[in-house]
Amino acid sequence: MIINMRILFISFFIFSNSLLLSAQDLTYHKDIASLIQAKCASCHHPGGGAPFPLLTYGDVAKRASFIKDVVKSRYMPPWRADNNYVHFANDRSLAQKEIDLLVKWIDNKAPEGKLVTTAKPATAFVSATKYGRKPDLFLPIADSFKVPGDNVERFVVFKIPFELKEPGNIEAIEFYTNNNKLIHHANYAIHEVADPAIDIYNTAKVVDLSGEERTNYEQYKPYRKTITYYGGWIPGTTYEYYPKQFGWVMPKRGVILLTVHFAPSSVDESSIAGVNLFFKKTPVTRPVKVISFGSGGIGEDQISPIFFIKKDETKTFTLNVTNPGTDLSVMYVWPHMHYVGKEFKAFILTPAGDTVKLVRIPDWDFRWQEIYRLKTLMKVPKGSVMHIEGTYDNTAQNPANPNNPPKTIFSSGNMRSTDEMMTLLMVYLPYEEGDEKIELE
Ligand code: HEC
Repeated sequence: MIINMRILFISFFIFSNSLLLSAQDLTYHKDIASLIQAKCASCHHPGGGAPFPLLTYGDVAKRASFIKDVVKSRYMPPWRADNNYVHFANDRSLAQKEIDLLVKWIDNKAPEGKLVTTAKPATAFVSATKYGRKPDLFLPIADSFKVPGDNVERFVVFKIPFELKEPGNIEAIEFYTNNNKLIHHANYAIHEVADPAIDIYNTAKVVDLSGEERTNYEQYKPYRKTITYYGGWIPGTTYEYYPKQFGWVMPKRGVILLTVHFAPSSVDESSIAGVNLFFKKTPVTRPVKVISFGSGGIGEDQISPIFFIKKDETKTFTLNVTNPGTDLSVMYVWPHMHYVGKEFKAFILTPAGDTVKLVRIPDWDFRWQEIYRLKTLMKVPKGSVMHIEGTYDNTAQNPANPNNPPKTIFSSGNMRSTDEMMTLLMVYLPYEEGDEKIELE
């Protein structure tokens, strides 16, 4: 009798346990914390660019219903690339089952549960960077820059001189600002200045290209003779990371010319900006380069039809550029449009007639742009045609349209935020046998 009771009890326990699984059993520490760590905290920590931290149970629980909304709508984590077109190595989107898990936990009143001692220790996110560790070198602008609240946009070049003990092998690079909202985009060019006769300190620290002092820019001419690397930041971008033997080498001496396009502001604001550099100990034997196609780059005048968008129209443009040189390997693709951009697509047609997909952004959003790292290097054979296609919605139905009512939009090359662009940047290197098999995780 006693035995029977026990069997009954045990079977009841097993049965009830399996019934209750999912809902009641989900707790923050057991099921949710690691997911938030992996998919949210890299931005949601102090200085990570997001408006509030998501580091503790309290941070998450008090915004539970808000979080439910943004993950269900896939607004967060920001990720606009179509994973079915190309699945990138730096994909940070949530899988459907991860969304379901979060929603189920929140619907069940977001219980905290016991701390799980066997859990992986949380990554300590370092303030002011999204790349998981402290930068080896932070090169900031000399002084915080004041943007008056006069609703005028500004293009400002900051000179950041540097002298290192030795050249640095770059593992990752990241633009930093303490005031995301103020910046429309930023570009940085790293110039080596090996000749000690060229002074890097006593030239202007900053030149406002939109102001009267723009002639001061001439002072930077001697620095611009060579360029080691070129990168940038647009809203949403995180960092550029080069695995394995890839990367580039930071020279010992030189200047960074950091061009910041400040969006118009109606209140006085100030901004600190700079570049975070992460070095690796292993050598860079395969240096990468950057190339740009479309507006502001190769083939700008071959965009078809002529690049302007009449008010109230939706229009698609294409660009085909042939790779005349040698075989290349692509590591990153970086699509760029402005506010009325709607859809972006790029692929390669090889001389053998194959189509190699590069990137598709089905629902463009200016606020969330990213530099997308391929899972393996992608070969672009000599003679391939790079095909870029952008669709723009310049109607009043587009909530992102900067003009109300809509105005005809041109691409005048000076890259104002109300102009448009259709650009694809690529980080690439000369092809070597077997590159297609090199994983870029
Ligand atoms: C790449 C950086 C990044 C990642 C990763 C990220 N966020 Fe965000 N998040 C932001 C930024 C920046 C904002 C502010 C944007 C805005 O004003 O809409 C934001 C805003 C939010 C908001 C407020 C939305 C609103 O309408 O104001 C919530 C809630 C949120 N994030 C939750 C999450 C959750 C949950 C995750 C992970 C599943 C996550 N975020 C991942 C950068 C990020």
